[in-house]
Amino acid sequence: MPKRVAVDDVAAHNERMWERLAKAGIPYTRPQGTPPRTTQGKRRFLDRITNATLAGVDLGGKRVLSLAGGGGWDAILFAELGAATTLVDISSRQLATVRRLARSRGTELDYLRTDMRDLSALGSGEFDVVFHQHSLVFVPDPARVIAEVTRVLAGGGVYVFSTMHPVTFLFYESWTGTGWRPKKTYFSDRPVPVLDPTWDFGRVKVHAPTYEYAHRTSDLVNICVRAGLTVDGLWEWSPHYEGGPAGSDDALEQKLPAFIQIRARKASSSSGRGANGSRRRTDPPAPPPFVRPPGDSRPSPRRTPAR
Ligand SMILES: C[S@@+](CC[C@H](N)C(=O)[O-])C[C@H]1O[C@@H](n2cnc3c(N)ncnc32)[C@H](O)[C@@H]1O
Repeated sequence: MPKRVAVDDVAAHNERMWERLAKAGIPYTRPQGTPPRTTQGKRRFLDRITNATLAGVDLGGKRVLSLAGGGGWDAILFAELGAATTLVDISSRQLATVRRLARSRGTELDYLRTDMRDLSALGSGEFDVVFHQHSLVFVPDPARVIAEVTRVLAGGGVYVFSTMHPVTFLFYESWTGTGWRPKKTYFSDRPVPVLDPTWDFGRVKVHAPTYEYAHRTSDLVNICVRAGLTVDGLWEWSPHYEGGPAGSDDALEQKLPAFIQIRARKASSSSGRGANGSRRRTDPPAPPPFVRPPGDSRPSPRRTPAR
C-alpha cells in the first residue's frame, strides 16, 4: 500500500479512482500518440499539447514541473527538449507508466508522488515553467495549488494550467430532450454531480466516480492575482467543433468551450517591464489570438463520447 500523500479525503478518493482508471489503461492514464523523433517534431507535438501557450519559450536549460502530468507525454518532451523536468502526480501507477516509457527512451526525469496541493518536497523558486493540464478539476481548493505553484516558481517563471470550463461542465449529462439544464448553480462550491460515473472507451468501461469541481473563471483569475501572479493569457476551447447527436457531449462542446486555460507569470525579482514599458526578451510570447487549435489527438476528457 503506497504511503498516504493525499491532503484530504477528496484526494484520497480521487487517487483510488485514478489508480483504477490506470489499471484499466484508459487513454488519459498513458501517453497517446507517438511524437516525431526530430527536435522540431517533438517541439511541434509539445506545442500542440500546450496549445502553443509556451510557443517560443526556449526550454534548453530550463527547470520544468509537469504537475499532475502522470498520463501525458509532456514531461518526457520537456526533458527531451532540454529542460530539467520533474513529474508530479498522485497516482503511482501513472508515474510508473511514464517512468517505464522515459527509461525506454533514455530520458531522465525526476518523479514525485504527491497531492498537487502539497509541493513541500520541492524548494521555493525551483522552476521556470509549471505546466498543469486538465486536473484542477479534481481538487476543491485551487487557491492551495496556486499558492504552492507560486512558491516553487522562480521569479519570471510561467504557470500554464487548464481545467474543465466551469459553465459547460454544469451541462454534461443534462439533456432534457429539448435543451440542457445545469446540474447545479454556477455559484455553489459543491462538486458537480456525476449521474453516470462510467468512463466509457468502447470496449473498456470503468466505474470510477471521481469528485470534480467547476472553478469559476473569476476565482481562478483572482486567485492568481492574489498570489502575486500576472495573468497574461486566458483561452477557452473545445477539442473539436464538429458537433454530434442532439444532447451529446460533442454537441454541447460545439456550442460551448470544453476547457479553460490560463497563463500566469511570477514577477522577476529584479524588474518587471523594461524602462520604456516594453516586454523583456525573456517574457513568454503575447497570447495568440483565438484560433481553433490544430487537431489534438487527445480525446475529450468526458466519460462518454455521447450520452
Ligand atoms: C485528466 S488526468 C490529466 C493527466 C495529464 N495532466 C494529461 O493531461 O495528460 C488528471 C491527472 O490528475 C491526477 N490527480 C488527480 N488528483 C490529484 C491530486 N490531488 N494531486 C495530484 N494529482 C492528481 C491524476 O492522477 C491524473 O493523472
